Amino acid sequence: MTTTVPLTVRSVVPEAEGVLGLVLADPTGAELAPWEPGAHLEVTLPSGAVRHYSLCGDPADRSTYRLGVLREREGRGGSEEVHTAVGAGTTLGVRGPFNRFPLVAAERYLFIAGGIGITPLLPMLRSLPPGSWSLLYGGRSLPAMAYREELSALPQVTLVPQDTAGLPDLDGVLAGLPAGTAVYCCGPEGLLRAVEDRWTGPLHTERFGAAPGRDAGTGQGVEAGEAGEGGEGFEVELRRSGRTLRVEPGRSLLDAVREVVPGVAYSCEEGFCGTCETKVIAGTPEHHDSVLGEDEKASGTTMMICVGRSQSPRLVLDL
Ligand code: FES
Repeated sequence: MTTTVPLTVRSVVPEAEGVLGLVLADPTGAELAPWEPGAHLEVTLPSGAVRHYSLCGDPADRSTYRLGVLREREGRGGSEEVHTAVGAGTTLGVRGPFNRFPLVAAERYLFIAGGIGITPLLPMLRSLPPGSWSLLYGGRSLPAMAYREELSALPQVTLVPQDTAGLPDLDGVLAGLPAGTAVYCCGPEGLLRAVEDRWTGPLHTERFGAAPGRDAGTGQGVEAGEAGEGGEGFEVELRRSGRTLRVEPGRSLLDAVREVVPGVAYSCEEGFCGTCETKVIAGTPEHHDSVLGEDEKASGTTMMICVGRSQSPRLVLDL
């Protein structure tokens, strides 16, 4: 599903303090597009705001999509709108599913969730044999931890409510992990950095926390880029379009490209959804996104044009 389609909110249920569960369905009852654990939807809210939410239901259920949305009073307003203006019967525009957080094959898995970061991990752990994984799930307090009833019944799950138990013991859980363990972590930036500092094995992350002034309910990498818009500006050649443009300071590369390629794909405009990923033919991109890994950024073969710029005076893109 690469175009936006209208889906109806079938029901809204509280999943925890400050967390609403949304169940979406096609208004005609048609089967929904398939997805795999780790996938997310791009959702256009009634106000026109676009947000990204992880799918947390059962991929085998093709009749509904389930989302969990944390209310962020200090966010950009998307989660506030979901909590105050979206109810059963509301129509939302939906694009996707997309998956930039896939579950890879591994002998064992350790899942580490912080707060609403539990949502993309739920379908992953439900899809695995019980003996192959464990989950460390930290939250502000027990009542604020979504899906805790389902999870607390499982012996391989450790719930860590911060108000009574403090912070999760990352050193303890990461020390001595068997070789071949894949670590998946989703939550706020501080949690991810703490895990990255302690674990050098395979690590799969998705950022859910909000930088100041951003919306943690959005789900996908909201710590991503502010476009670097200062400097001297640069030239960009759009090879397939046969056009060369100048990107002035204060203007994003995406904005410049849009004038020549009106249908260019983009969504979040903040460097976290991956929609605007573009192949670089020549020149050295300057990355400001949170989609690409360090190796991918260093290779310079692809970039997110919504926040990326150029280190070289000229950039040639496959557009
Ligand atoms: S539009 Fe989302 S990463 Fe560029």
